[in-house]
This record gives sequence, structure tokens and C-alpha cells, in this order.
Amino acid sequence: MRQLVKAAHLLLLPVVWAAPSGFPSSGNGLWYTETGSIWSRHFLPIGNGFLAAMTPGGTTQEMTQLNIESLWSGGPFADPTYNGGNKLLSEKDSTAAAMQTIRQEIFESPNGTIEGIDVLTTDQGAYGSYSGAGYLLSTLNDFNASGNFTDYGRFLDLDHGIAKTLWSSGGEEFSREAFCSFPAKACISNTSTSSKKGLSQTYAFSALTDMPAPNVTCFNNSTLRLVGLVADPGMAYELLATVRSSGGSIACSSSANLGGGALTNATITVDSASSASITWVGGTNYDMNAGDATHNFSFLGVDPHEALVAQLKEATSKTYSELLTEHQTDVKAALYDNFALDLGQKPDLETPTDVLRSQYEVDTGNPYLEWVLFNYGRYLLASSARGDLPANLQGKWAFDASNPWSGDYHANINLQMNYWFAETTNMNVSASLFNYMQKTWAPRGAYTANVLYNISQGWVTHDEMNIFGHTGMKAGEGSAEWADFPESNAWMMFHVWDHFDFTNDLEWWKSQGYPLLKSVAQFHVKNLRPDSRFNDGSLVVAPCNSPEQPPITLACANSQQLIWQLFNAVEKGAKLGGETDAAFLDEITNARSNMDKGVHVGSWGQLQEWKVDMDQPNDTHRHLSHLVGLYPGYALANFEPSLQNGAHGGGVDVDYTRQQVLDAAQVSLIHRGNGTGPDADSGWEKVWRAACWAQFANASEFYHELTYALQRNFAENLFSIYDPFDADPIIQIDANFGFPSALMNALIQTPDVADSSLPLEVTLLPALPPTWPSGSIRGARVRGAISLDMTWTDGKPTKVALKTSEGAIPRTVNVLYKGQVKATFNSKSGESKTISSF
Ligand SMILES: *[C@@H]1O[C@H](CO)[C@@H](O)[C@H](O)[C@H]1NC(C)=O
Ligand SMILES: *[C@@H]1O[C@H](CO)[C@@H](O)[C@H](O)[C@H]1NC(C)=O
Ligand SMILES: *[C@@H]1O[C@H](CO)[C@@H](O)[C@H](O)[C@H]1NC(C)=O
Ligand SMILES: *[C@@H]1O[C@H](CO)[C@@H](O)[C@H](O)[C@H]1NC(C)=O
Ligand SMILES: *[C@@H]1O[C@H](CO)[C@@H](O)[C@H](O)[C@H]1NC(C)=O
Ligand SMILES: *[C@@H]1O[C@H](CO)[C@@H](O)[C@H](O)[C@H]1NC(C)=O
Ligand SMILES: *[C@@H]1O[C@H](CO)[C@@H](O)[C@H](O)[C@H]1NC(C)=O
Ligand SMILES: *[C@@H]1O[C@H](CO)[C@@H](O)[C@H](O)[C@H]1NC(C)=O
Ligand SMILES: *[C@@H]1O[C@H](CO)[C@@H](O)[C@H](O)[C@H]1NC(C)=O
Ligand SMILES: *[C@@H]1O[C@H](CO)[C@@H](O)[C@H](O)[C@H]1NC(C)=O
Ligand SMILES: *[C@@H]1O[C@H](CO)[C@@H](O)[C@H](O)[C@H]1NC(C)=O
Ligand SMILES: *[C@@H]1O[C@H](CO)[C@@H](O)[C@H](O)[C@H]1NC(C)=O
Repeated sequence: MRQLVKAAHLLLLPVVWAAPSGFPSSGNGLWYTETGSIWSRHFLPIGNGFLAAMTPGGTTQEMTQLNIESLWSGGPFADPTYNGGNKLLSEKDSTAAAMQTIRQEIFESPNGTIEGIDVLTTDQGAYGSYSGAGYLLSTLNDFNASGNFTDYGRFLDLDHGIAKTLWSSGGEEFSREAFCSFPAKACISNTSTSSKKGLSQTYAFSALTDMPAPNVTCFNNSTLRLVGLVADPGMAYELLATVRSSGGSIACSSSANLGGGALTNATITVDSASSASITWVGGTNYDMNAGDATHNFSFLGVDPHEALVAQLKEATSKTYSELLTEHQTDVKAALYDNFALDLGQKPDLETPTDVLRSQYEVDTGNPYLEWVLFNYGRYLLASSARGDLPANLQGKWAFDASNPWSGDYHANINLQMNYWFAETTNMNVSASLFNYMQKTWAPRGAYTANVLYNISQGWVTHDEMNIFGHTGMKAGEGSAEWADFPESNAWMMFHVWDHFDFTNDLEWWKSQGYPLLKSVAQFHVKNLRPDSRFNDGSLVVAPCNSPEQPPITLACANSQQLIWQLFNAVEKGAKLGGETDAAFLDEITNARSNMDKGVHVGSWGQLQEWKVDMDQPNDTHRHLSHLVGLYPGYALANFEPSLQNGAHGGGVDVDYTRQQVLDAAQVSLIHRGNGTGPDADSGWEKVWRAACWAQFANASEFYHELTYALQRNFAENLFSIYDPFDADPIIQIDANFGFPSALMNALIQTPDVADSSLPLEVTLLPALPPTWPSGSIRGARVRGAISLDMTWTDGKPTKVALKTSEGAIPRTVNVLYKGQVKATFNSKSGESKTISSF
């Protein structure tokens, strides 16, 4: 609807657009001709992982929306008895009995399914929500609110990580630019004018009305201090902001009557300055290191005040220009020094991003917009994941006190998708993800393993996680669909194994990676049991659920494939991880070999979603759970008959070839539809489908899904939106991150292998669409700690260089193009291989 109105408007008033001055000539950014009004559609994101902000590009008044990464309601801050949504120890025996009964019922049920597992679930308790931290208001005092502005433009410069707004008024030029610096751990906004009269601007913090009113005071004459509680009772937070000016004066005034709801409030006013800047920092009394039994799972840290004062002092010891330079150097290092992609795009500096998006068509595409969206994904991950916590459902951008799905960590596709491209596009952003799992999931998850599953080794968690160690099965309507997913940690271990496989960082593997993987495997090896329904000698999980889809059954393909890959990763990495426990390794190897592999071809040629052949051909569910081994996994993509056949169940011992498995997976993918179904219409389901089609080397289906996602599920600000036709939609960052991943999967593939002695197959341009006939990539990563540079012309690679990192573990590598091996080599630490004949 909105697009039609806009088009009609254009017919009446033809306008000539030009990108605002300062917009990168490469076209690497987003630009607009109007101030934003709807947060999820129009505001532009900046962030450094610790802090985040959204700017509408205001003129007379700029209302920057603020986030602090650990600002959450709920948890032990709200309820001292909070226990991660788990059963009580006193319930352990009855729970174990209930679990046994449920398993028996599944095995004995005529169709292998049961109705409920509610007896295993727990009320979510003080689960809480990621919360916004209010707004920073920058208000010009000597301009009429309805003043005449000309030459308005705003943009997000992805080359430098800066949001900028430009306008003129009364013949004078104004600009405001903002960025969040990772090295300075601070965000900065600078307003400047060409006017001789100078600026008069007032700064204030405003709070959300559904949070307790904070106190805002003058910390000193140029520094505002906000102290508040996210909820009462709840976590404490603080924002501290220093104002500086070029010329003029700065004064802080504080009063009980300044307006707003605060008990005390304060504002800082700059007068007659040629420019003014505000540098802000923020923190909470949350501490991820206090989430274990030693700290009584309190997650309670120190009052952030002292650290913030020091941080702010450090940041403001540098001039604005120094901070800006430091930030730009960091952005370049994080995003561009070691990686570059060129899709042969031509920058369009005459069409604003929202118009480009509204003109975008499925299948026709627009390489320029696709390239921008790719870069945007990397920018958003670097801007949200480099703090202490990983990127959540909305990255770190959320404005409300309570956000959709709590702005939490869903680990049945969403959190995984956030990180799919981290390794392949050479990003150093995963430390917070690994720390978060180790420090908030594992400690309480060991309790869950014990109290819910009666397993005393390892740990488990389910689909939905907060930052307070929520590891239980969250009760709710149809809870099994959402809650019954103890394999979430096995899926997350893809990222742990892949980080090692892509970097060969042995020191990390020994100290963090392998111990994490092992502790997850220890749980799952005990949670498998003999299949007493099919009685085929295989080990299965029961109860299980395909993510977010009934029925509750046994041996869900998703669960079995995930656990198989988990065990396989343990086998491949144990020795390098320093494993000395031979009994444990034997147990894993036996289980891996005897388990049901989650690979069954069903009655209509489909890859079965469950061991009981009950898939409906018309099931267009949003998740592609049973295809997890196709992408991002390899249990299907690189099906290894010698290791994955046997124990197929159903009383039939079938031996599949890889092609048979892939054919079945393709039948399932086709029947799953295009990612707009009666159940959902989100972006992540479309980009996942795009990645899967790329895995099948099907360029036209790949591009269809990729362009369909872009056309339908991305807002004017290119945020991925869950409900695209809502005027004020929900953002969900996953498709922003799934988009570059799918795109990468069309350019380069190295699916994992089931045995490290098997050659690594690097496939070049498996699904290149005709719209990207020529291009190049620099610094892509493939498995085996190898980096890859490639140029292609007329749809064919022309030059490819593979460089093995220092210290890499030698592998046999086959480089393939169009099914033909173009080169074979043994990778050696520090050595390069160039191929120029295709
Ligand atoms: C530890 O936390 C529990 C709630 O989980 C609480 O009942 C108990 O008092 C706490 N103990 C200490 C020593 O703080
Ligand atoms: C299994 O059988 C039960 C009892 O007849 C029925 O209610 C249920 O819908 C069936 N489930 C499936 C997935 O067919
Ligand atoms: C503000 O508005 C008044 C009249 O309403 C006008 O005289 C004045 O020039 C305006 N100031 C600016 C800076 O536009
Ligand atoms: C805005 O511009 C119009 C026409 O150019 C003029 O009539 C009006 O006075 C201006 N308003 C302000 C507040 O400057
Ligand atoms: C703030 O500035 C005023 C006026 O310049 C001065 O009197 C006062 O001491 C300053 N206060 C602080 C806390 O620096
Ligand atoms: C705000 O200040 C009042 C009065 O000093 C105090 O009672 C209250 O606890 C403060 N609120 C917060 C959130 O610190
Ligand atoms: C604002 O930015 C300009 C341009 O980079 C710079 O010269 C000026 O010092 C900055 N102002 C402040 C107060 O930091
Ligand atoms: C403080 O006062 C300003 C100016 O009136 C207002 O905009 C802001 O919302 C107030 N802040 C709080 C936290 O109440
Ligand atoms: C105000 O406090 C901040 C934070 O400690 C400090 O950086 C700044 O120098 C102080 N300014 C004044 C005028 O005292
Ligand atoms: C990755 O980033 C971290 C900071 O988050 C830094 O300590 C580390 O040295 C970086 N590693 C590489 C390989 O650049
Ligand atoms: C799929 O087909 C079955 C059997 O014909 C029917 O019961 C079911 O409602 C259909 N489901 C959808 C989503 O159309
Ligand atoms: C997506 O699938 C729906 C349902 O089959 C169909 O109506 C629609 O045309 C398809 N759209 C695209 C772009 O594939």
C-alpha cells in the first residue's frame, strides 16, 4: 500500500535525487530524503556490541534511541528464587518417572506420537526481556520546530560506520553525525553548523514510560548522569554523557521540575558554539561471570558507575577527530581489511535506498542493492556481536521495555543464522557467543540435565534463552513445539566446531572449544536410548520435536542429524583438544555408529522429517528442520555411505547413496514451498531456502528465494522484518545475517567431511546467478584454515588463490568447478595455491 501511495506522489511531483554529500562514492551505504518516523522501518542502526542506538535523522530535534546490551528485566534481579525456569530438586524423581512414561508411550503409540509433554515443562518465571534504555534528545533551541529545511539528506555510511544527517535552514548548513566506537566503548554524536550565530542545543535523556522513572543529574557541568532500574525490582543501569563544544558555553541545569517523569532531571545546554558533541557510555550491574553455583547464579556484578566514569574520561581524553579516526580504523579492520566482495554492482547514487527497495523485483533483482544488503549484514554483526553478549533476536537494537519474544536467544534456527557467515566472511565476532554459552548455559544446564533428564554429565538447554541461564523447558500453549528441543546445544556446537575448523586455532580449541563440545556430547550420549518401537538396534531420542512443529515423537531427523554431527565433531577434534579419556571416546564412537542417523527416504520420495514416515506433502512449515544436514550442516550435503548407512529403522536396512539422499532432500525442499506459508511469512525462512537451493547448485531457485526475501521481508532501512505488511513491523535480525550467508553459499562451498582424512571439496561458483556475471571476492575463508581469493568473468572463475594460514593442519583439498576437479593439493602451513585455468 505504502509503495503505491509513494509512486502516485512521485507522478505528481517529479524529484531529482542525489545522494547526500559525503555518502560513499562506492555506494556502500543507505540514504534517504526524509526524516524517519517509524523505528523499525526508518531509523538507522549504529552500535559497538556493548552499546547500540537507532537514529531517525532528526533536525530540530534528534531522538536517538539507546540500548545497553545487558539491560534485561527479570532474572534473579527481579526474583531471588529465579532458577532458570527449572524443576526443583525435590521434583527430580517424579520428573524422571514422567520422562520414562512419556518415552514408553511414544514407543508404544500406534502412530509413534503422543499429545503432550507438559509435565516436563516449567513456568518461565522471571524470564524477563531485553529492554530499551530510553532516548537521548538533542534539541536545537533557536529554530522553529516547523522551520523550513532544505537540502535534507541522511545516510548510513557502511564504509566508516557513521550515521549522518544534513540540512540547511535560513541559508545555513547543519549536520549531525553519530557512531558507536568499539575501541572507545562509547557512542558519540556531533552537531555542527556553518552559522556565524552558532548552535544552541539542549541535551536530555528521556525514559520509557513503562519503566521506573530514573534520576538524571548533573554529574558535573558538562556531564549528565542517568541512574535507573529496568523494573522494580530489577537490574540497575546507568548512562553517563559528556558534552563538548567548539566555542560557546556549556551548562548543566538540574531541577525537580524539568519535566518528564524523573524524580530529578537535568539537561545540558550548549550556546553559541560552532559544533557540539556528546559522548555517552552505559552499563548495568549484570555480570555474566556470576552465573554459576559459586555465585549462587546471581549474575550480580558491581555498580557500573566507577567503570563508566573511567571509560568516559578515557574517551573524552581524545578529541572528536581522534575518536572518529580511531573508529574508522576499527571499522575498516573489522570489516574490510581482510575481506572484500564485488558482485559487479554499479552504485546508484540517484535513487534513495527506500525507493530502490520499493522498485526491487523478484528474479530481476538488483546487484547493487544485494551488495549493500550483504555489506549491511556484516556491518550489523560487527556492530552487535563484539560486546560481552552475542547478537540477540534483534541484534542489540530494541526500543521497548518488553520486546518481541523478549529479544532473546532462540536456538532452533535464529541464533544459529546470526553467525552462519561469521567464519566464511572472515569476521572476528564469535568470542561473545562462546563465552555466553559457557558462562550462562552450561552451569545451569548441568542442573537441568540432572533434574529434568536424570543425567549427571554434561549440560542441556532448550530453545529459548535469556541472559540469566534459562535452560528449562518453557511452559506455554503448545509448549512442546517450542520447548521440547534439548538438541539446541548440539546445533550450537556447529559454530564451536566450525570456528576451529575454519581457523585451526589450537590454543582456543583446547581451552574453550573442545571442552564445550565435550560437555554437550556427554549429555547427548546419555540421552539416546535403544529404539524400542522399530527395534532395529538403533539409538534414538524420545521425546523429540522438529523445531516448532508437532508431533511429539521419536528420532526426529533434526535431532538425530544434529547429534550425529556433534559426535562426529568430537571424534575429529578430540585428540587435538587434548582428550585422554579413551572410555569417553569409545562411548561416543559407538553411539555415533549405532545411532539412527536421521536419514530416511520416505513413501513419496521425501527425506523424512521423523523416523515414522508421516510427512505431509503439503507441509510448507517455515522451518527446514530435517534439512539441517543439507545447510548449514553436512550430514546430508556430504552424506558418507560408509559411516552413515545402517540402523535405518522401519525394519528395512537400506543403503543409500549420497545422490539418493540429496534427491530426497530436494523433494522435501520443493514441497516446503517458498517461505510464505499459512504459518509465517518471515525473511529467515526464505534466505534459508536460498542457501539450500545454492547447496543443490540451483542458481535460479537460489536467486528466486534470495530476491523474494529482499523484495518482501526487508524494510526501508533494510532491517529484516517478520511481518512485512504491518505498518509498524517486528524486526528480527536473523534474515539480515542469513542473507549474506546464503549469498556466500552461491559463491563458495566447503561442506564439512565425516572424517578428516577425506578430501575437503571446495566448490567454486556453485550457484552463480546470471545477474552477477563478473565479480571478485577477497579473503573468504574455507575449512582447513584456508583463505580464498577469486575473480570471475562471464560467469566463470578466472583466477583463484588459496592460502593456508600459518599453523594450519594439513588437509587434502580438491577444488571443483562445475563438478570437475580443477586442482588437488595438500594444504601446508603458510603456502599458497593459485589456479588460473578453468
Ligand atoms: C541462593 O539463591 C537461592 C535462590 O535460588 C536463595 O534462596 C538463597 O538464599 C541464595 N543463597 C545465598 C547464600 O545467597
Ligand atoms: C496419532 O494417533 C492419535 C490417536 O489416534 C491421533 O490423535 C493423532 O492425531 C495421530 N498423530 C498423527 C501425527 O497422525
Ligand atoms: C522562526 O519563526 C519566526 C516567525 O514565526 C521567524 O520570524 C523566524 O525567522 C524563524 N526563525 C528561524 C531561525 O527560522
Ligand atoms: C518558510 O518558507 C515559506 C515560503 O518560502 C515562507 O513563507 C515562510 O515564512 C517560511 N517559514 C519560516 C518559519 O521561516
Ligand atoms: C559549574 O559551572 C559554574 C559556573 O561556571 C561554577 O560556578 C560551578 O562551580 C561549576 N560546577 C562544577 C561542579 O564544576
Ligand atoms: C532517585 O532519587 C531518589 C531520591 O534521591 C531515590 O529515592 C531513588 O531511589 C532514586 N532512584 C533511582 C532509580 O536511583
Ligand atoms: C564536531 O565535528 C567536527 C568535524 O569533524 C569537528 O571539527 C569538531 O571538533 C567536532 N566538535 C566537537 C565539539 O567535538
Ligand atoms: C528531562 O527533561 C526533558 C526536558 O523537559 C524531557 O524531555 C525528558 O524527558 C526528561 N527526562 C526524564 C528522564 O524525565
Ligand atoms: C566531568 O566528568 C567527566 C567524567 O568523569 C570527565 O571526563 C570530565 O572531565 C568532567 N568535566 C568537568 C568539567 O569536570
Ligand atoms: C579478535 O578480537 C578480539 C577482541 O574481541 C581480540 O582480542 C583478538 O585479538 C582478535 N583476534 C584476531 C585474530 O584478530
Ligand atoms: C494437507 O493435506 C492434509 C491431507 O489431505 C490435510 O488434512 C491438511 O489440512 C493439509 N494441510 C495444509 C497445511 O494444507
Ligand atoms: C510463493 O508461494 C506462494 C504459495 O505457493 C505463491 O502464491 C507465490 O506466488 C509464491 N511467490 C513467489 C515469489 O515465489
